[in-house]
Amino acid sequence: MAKYKICRIPGDGIGKDVMDAAMIVADAIGFDVEWVDAEAGWGAWEKYHDTVPKDTWEKLESTDACLFGAITSKPGVKGFRSAILQIRQKFDLYVNLRPVRSFKGVPLNYRDDIDLAIFRENTEGLYSSVEFRPIPEELLKYPGMEKYRNSKDNALSFRPFTREGCERIIRAAYEYAKEYNRRSVTLVEKPNVIRKTGGLFIEVGREIAQQYPDIETKEANVDAMAMWLIKNPQDYDVIVTTNMFGDIISDEAAQLVGGMGFAASGNIGEKYALFEPTHGSAPKYAGQYKVNPTAMILAFKMMLQWLGEKEKADRLERAIEKVLAEGKVKTYDLGGSNTTLEMAEAYAKALSEV
Ligand code: IPM
Ligand code: MG
Repeated sequence: MAKYKICRIPGDGIGKDVMDAAMIVADAIGFDVEWVDAEAGWGAWEKYHDTVPKDTWEKLESTDACLFGAITSKPGVKGFRSAILQIRQKFDLYVNLRPVRSFKGVPLNYRDDIDLAIFRENTEGLYSSVEFRPIPEELLKYPGMEKYRNSKDNALSFRPFTREGCERIIRAAYEYAKEYNRRSVTLVEKPNVIRKTGGLFIEVGREIAQQYPDIETKEANVDAMAMWLIKNPQDYDVIVTTNMFGDIISDEAAQLVGGMGFAASGNIGEKYALFEPTHGSAPKYAGQYKVNPTAMILAFKMMLQWLGEKEKADRLERAIEKVLAEGKVKTYDLGGSNTTLEMAEAYAKALSEV
């Protein structure tokens, strides 16, 4: 019997291209696994009218973790619910960890000394899918809603936070900072304007900060954070924020280190985790084996780390460092013409040289 059972979901578009690339690396590193293939996303919607079919839920439940490619989400399709949002919520994968580090040799690097870990709350807030259009009568009674009562068309999206939800994501960020000897944790919200929810997050953050006196705590409003990420990203270390703000600043941060081709995510709960590149399914490149597989391979690396395969995870990161620093094998985004699979093969080969 293999040591691990992992659910493998390539998803849509280039999800399959980058998943094939990850498999080259997984084989080369000697990952002892039984892959359990499952469907999710737009393709599943077209086939079954369900972005996460029952069979996929069962497979997710019967495996140790999930490796996920990319999926297509289309707005305005009735009944459609994003597969990834559903999986995050159902498995209570409340941490969305997005490491953002520069690799030497990447021509698109903004600076080569960036090393951030962004913790994004993954189950609450504006992405909890509690939304109305039109706004129900009983909600229009509240003070401040006068203006919306007289409209022919109105809509409302809730942004609910809980103390527990804030606590567990902030604690996860501090625990990570402690484990990896990080200098600081920055709490990012907008409590001066969104006083109740943003205020709760910062209040909880300050309480937890006191339990970690050796780690410097900073606070930033999200708009200022967006600016400082451009101005002085090297001054930040661990960043912890809520769902939508984390979605936005993690994309911004990815661009500092070469773009979405380098951005990986771990969706992590108490018992289960799903690892994915942060990029989308880029349908126009599907099947062309053109895109950079590094984000996907970094997602696989994060999975190794989470499973406790530290030696393999570290070796894979060194192999990635080596190939990028040499700059001989490059996909189009890096100014080269190598294919997705050639890039993966270069990483696989480097595994025995680092
Ligand atoms: C991400 C994506 C998703 C999100 C979408 C596809 C639902 O943008 O993982 O960042 O917003 O969380
Ligand atoms: Mg996003």
